[in-house]
Amino acid sequence: MPIFAKCRRNSGLNNHGFLRYRSSMTLSSSPSKRSFLCRSAVLLLAMMVGCALTSDDRKIQPIVYSHKSHIENAGLTCTDCHSSVQTLAAASIPNLEVCRNCHSESLSESPEEAKLLKYVAKAAEVPWERVYKVPDHVYFSHRRHVVAGRLECEVCHGNVQQFTMPVSLPEIPVTMENCMSCHRKHNVTNDCLSCHR
Ligand code: HEC
Ligand code: HEC
Ligand code: HEC
Ligand code: HEC
Ligand code: HEC
Repeated sequence: MPIFAKCRRNSGLNNHGFLRYRSSMTLSSSPSKRSFLCRSAVLLLAMMVGCALTSDDRKIQPIVYSHKSHIENAGLTCTDCHSSVQTLAAASIPNLEVCRNCHSESLSESPEEAKLLKYVAKAAEVPWERVYKVPDHVYFSHRRHVVAGRLECEVCHGNVQQFTMPVSLPEIPVTMENCMSCHRKHNVTNDCLSCHR
């Protein structure tokens, strides 16, 4: 529960304070005390919800890249840019060379494109932040899922072709439970060693 751990740190609550609070709740009986506790509980809940909403792991991308405009207006497909998605474990993030094929000079009035052109002029890779990631102890292969499993990108990544903003949060969190529940649905093994190798 990293979010709650973070929350508790941010709001100055610790395990000790939390326990003390709970025990005083069970002891209380007077109405005024109860309403105070009730209000505190609401406040605590609001703080936790607020925390969960603000201290997420949203990534800020260096350029406001739009998947939608590249698929609808520039006519590209997923594999044009994520070129190893059908052949390797990793889908790959396109490097500057891919962008430069079209953006060697300006195609629009967009200030975001101007940022890209600065990277092109310096021949410096755009420092995109990774959003979907499995830990090192987990094996995940795109080829296996996209080619053998014939799954659409959308089941795991959402409706990317409609994104006008860069990817900043996983549409479907990369958790063991999410992997396993789809495996159960498709009758695929959930043997520990198939994913942890
Ligand atoms: C096949 C050609 C092509 C490639 C490859 C391409 N773009 Fe574009 N890009 C375009 C076109 C055409 C526009 C103008 C689209 C419009 O006006 O709707 C554009 C517009 C943009 C814009 C301006 C805002 C917007 O989305 O309309 C940004 C930023 C951008 N591209 C970034 C990138 C990046 C980053 C890459 C590499 C990962 C890339 N482009 C690769 C053709 C391309
Ligand atoms: C079964 C779920 C699933 C499907 C289907 C899927 N992905 Fe992924 N994708 C993931 C997971 C999990 C990761 C993180 C993998 C890692 O850390 O190695 C990921 C990572 C990525 C990344 C990050 C860069 C990289 O090198 O891996 C891109 C880009 C990507 N996927 C694109 C796609 C595209 C395009 C498709 C469809 C052709 C697709 N994915 C289909 C689950 C999926
Ligand atoms: C013009 C090249 C281009 C095309 C075409 C393209 N992408 Fe991307 N994609 C990018 C770039 C650049 C990023 C990094 C910026 C971002 O996160 O939005 C990215 C990021 C992603 C990510 C997040 C990767 C991560 O974990 O950080 C996913 C998932 C993804 N793309 C899926 C798709 C899917 C699905 C399609 C087809 C519907 C597609 N992309 C088409 C360029 C492209
Ligand atoms: C949306 C459904 C779905 C999700 C989500 C999913 N998988 Fe799968 N996975 C499949 C299917 C279907 C196959 C079988 C592909 C085939 O026919 O070979 C598979 C196969 C596999 C295999 C090969 C199993 C074997 O037979 O040895 C591994 C490893 C694997 N997945 C890991 C993962 C991991 C790790 C995640 C989460 C990060 C994940 N999968 C998420 C549907 C899914
Ligand atoms: C379908 C793929 C898959 C299978 C099968 C699987 N795991 Fe995992 N496991 C993952 C992924 C993905 C993560 C990392 C994401 C997360 O921590 O939720 C993970 C994380 C873990 C962790 C680390 C948790 C943490 O908090 O860091 C342990 C321990 C673990 N798995 C044990 C197991 C055991 C034991 C089994 C067999 C009963 C198993 N896994 C089967 C995909 C899988």
